[in-house]
Amino acid sequence: MKTAILYYSRTRKTALVARTLAEKVQADIFEIVDLKNRMGTLNYMNASIDALRENKTQIKPSSVDLEDYGLIYIGTPTWAEKPSPAIITLIDNCDLKGKDVILFATMSSRGGKNVIERMKEKIEARGGRMVNSFMIKTGNRELEEVKEEVNTLIEEMDLEIYGI
Ligand SMILES: Cc1cc2nc3c(=O)[nH]c(=O)nc-3n(C[C@H](O)[C@H](O)[C@H](O)COP(=O)(O)O)c2cc1C
Repeated sequence: MKTAILYYSRTRKTALVARTLAEKVQADIFEIVDLKNRMGTLNYMNASIDALRENKTQIKPSSVDLEDYGLIYIGTPTWAEKPSPAIITLIDNCDLKGKDVILFATMSSRGGKNVIERMKEKIEARGGRMVNSFMIKTGNRELEEVKEEVNTLIEEMDLEIYGI
């Protein structure tokens, strides 16, 4: 069975984590795009409200066919200590029955634990099983530093042996 990495990223930090992962674990990578404009100050506030309320959003692709995949990574930035609406919407649109899932969250400084907990509840409700998870702090850090931490985590968590 193959491995898939599904992620949403507004400012490319979660994308960097996903791409770094994909270089190390053999995986197909799917970026989920939020069709709602999330840029600018007002949209930032609305984004936090949407995340807090777990409001659904329009995403592209609207779902991913996971039939050929046994292991699924799902990654999101932390918004108001919650998963992003794009990832909440994606989880609800995907069939995760019998799938092993590894969750990851990026955050400026705090709230990632809550994000993982909430995503775990949601994937379990859809028949998936969280087999591992990790969080990455991105606030005040160079992209190279973030990338190095991901590579260290991949080794420490033995992520390369999952899904083989
Ligand atoms: C609407 C919004 C709310 C956020 N809320 C939090 C938060 O509660 N805690 C935190 O540490 N970072 C928060 N952040 C920062 C992001 O989680 C962080 O910068 C993340 O790594 C960005 O990932 P991205 O570049 O993939 O979008 C928030 C960012 C946005 C846009």
